[in-house]
Amino acid sequence: TTLTGLVGWRGMVGSVLLERMQAEGDFDLIEPVFFSTSNAGGAAPSFARNETKLRDAYDLEALKRCEIIVTAQGGEYTKDVYGRLRAAGWNGYWIDAAKTLRMQDDSVIVLDPVNLPVIKDALARGVKNYIGGNCTVSCMLMGVGALFKADLVEWMTCTTYQAASGGGAQHMRELLTQYGTLNAEVRDLLDDPKSAILEIDRRVVDRQRSMSEAETAHFGVPLGGNLIPWIDVDRGDGTSLEEWKGGAETNKILGRSGDEVVPIDSICVRIGAMRSHSQSLTIKLKSDVPLADIESMIAADNAWAKVVPNTRAASVRELTPVAVSGTMQIPVGRLRKLAMGPTYLGAFTVGDQLLWGAAEPLRRMLRIVLT
Ligand code: HSE
Repeated sequence: TTLTGLVGWRGMVGSVLLERMQAEGDFDLIEPVFFSTSNAGGAAPSFARNETKLRDAYDLEALKRCEIIVTAQGGEYTKDVYGRLRAAGWNGYWIDAAKTLRMQDDSVIVLDPVNLPVIKDALARGVKNYIGGNCTVSCMLMGVGALFKADLVEWMTCTTYQAASGGGAQHMRELLTQYGTLNAEVRDLLDDPKSAILEIDRRVVDRQRSMSEAETAHFGVPLGGNLIPWIDVDRGDGTSLEEWKGGAETNKILGRSGDEVVPIDSICVRIGAMRSHSQSLTIKLKSDVPLADIESMIAADNAWAKVVPNTRAASVRELTPVAVSGTMQIPVGRLRKLAMGPTYLGAFTVGDQLLWGAAEPLRRMLRIVLT
C-alpha cells in the first residue's frame, strides 16, 4: 500500500477530512504516516497501522518517504515546506487544501465531479500538485457546474453569504460567544413579554458597538446580529481577494483561459451562519434554454446537486445552512428566469464549506491518484 503522509489532520478541515476518509474506507488503500508540527514522537491516531508514532512535519527525510502527501495544515506550512521538499528531490503527489500553490501553472485545482477531464489530462502530463479550491467556488460549481460544462454561461455575478467557519475554528467560537453576550445583555427584557422591543434593540446595538477588541479579535467587528461585507484582503482595486478567487479559480478549475474565460464577479459577505456558505447567483445564459431543461441538467450533473423547487415551503426547509451543514448535499433553488429577459437566470445554492468546500475534493483526489 502507498505510503501517504497526512499533515494538519488535527485542525478543523483536517478533522473533517479524517472523518470522511474513515467513512469511505480510504485508509484501507494507504499506509498512513501522521505528521505533526508540534508533537513529533507522540502517538498517531489509533487506526494507524505500522506508523504508530507521529513524525515531525518539518522533517524533510520523513516527508520524502511518502509517495503522496495530503496537507490541511494551512498556507504558512506549504510556503515553508513545499519548495524545500521539491528542491530536495521529492517527486511525489502533493494534495493540499491551502491557497498557496493553487494558481500556479504546475498545479491543478481539484473538484473532480466538475473537472475530472482537467485532472486526468494533468496526471497524464505528470503534474504532481493537486490543490483544493476556495470553498465558495467549489460549492458553487458543485451546484451549477452543469451550466458551465454545457458552455451556457456568458457571465455570472454572485452575492455570497459565508459562514463563520470560513475564517477558522476560532471565528466560529467568537460568533457564538457574541450571540451569547447579546442574549445576556437583554435576557431580563426577553423574559418579560411586555418589555418594549425598541428598548431591547437599543441595548443590543449599544452592546454591539461597545464590543471590546478581545470580543471581536477574529472578525475585527461584531458578526453576531450583524454582517460583514468584505472577506479576506483588500486588493486595492475595489475587490476583495475572496471575490477575485470567484472568477480566477472557477475558470482555472474548468480549464478555461484566454478567450474562453467566463467573466464572474462577486460581492462576498460574512454572515452569522456556522459552516455552510450560501450564494445568490445571476447567470447570463448564452441562449434561452427552457427552465425545465436547466433544472434537469443541474439535477443530472452529479450525485450531490439537488434541485429545490422554487417555492417558499421547499426553499425555507431545504435551501439553508441549517439544512445542509454536515451533509454532502448541494441544494440549488430559487431557479427562475429574471425580469431582465429569458437569458437571465436567478439561482441560490448552499454547501457545507468544510465538506465539498474543503475536505472532500482532497480525499477524492487521493483516490484518483491511487487508481
Ligand atoms: N476564504 C473562505 C472564507 C474559506 O473565508 O469563507 C476558505 O476557502
